[in-house]
Amino acid sequence: MRSEGSGVPRRNVMRLLGGLLGALGATVLFGPVIAYFWPAKLEEIPSEPVAVGAPDLVPPGGSMTVRFGRYPALIINAPDGMRAYSAVCTHFACLVKWNPESGMIECPCHAGFFDVADGSVISGPPPEGLMPLDVFVKDNILYVGSEA
Ligand code: FES
Repeated sequence: MRSEGSGVPRRNVMRLLGGLLGALGATVLFGPVIAYFWPAKLEEIPSEPVAVGAPDLVPPGGSMTVRFGRYPALIINAPDGMRAYSAVCTHFACLVKWNPESGMIECPCHAGFFDVADGSVISGPPPEGLMPLDVFVKDNILYVGSEA
């Protein structure tokens, strides 16, 4: 049966609409699953280093989360020196925290653990390590970011 005045059968139009609605439904249902396996990259490096303050704001064994561009950075005063990483977990973008008792950087969302020495993944679902950032002291001010 053909619709009047058209060369396209009504059945084909209904099949096309059904297929489009099916594809839309599948996208709504499976989009979050796909995003789980291919999380968005949330990186933005400020062009200038960011001043944090006096170096003793981060005591030995302690940490501090600071704003670094649009996303936070985690500064850790580790036993072998200051370290800084993006505080955004590479799995699903939760904020990671330093745990001085375990000696690891931890993501509370899905139990991701990172090595304080280089930000690499120790265990858990994060697909890659934390992005390392430069940290340095100049004129008695602690900075995060590349020294110009
Ligand atoms: Fe960090 Fe899932 S968001 S482990």
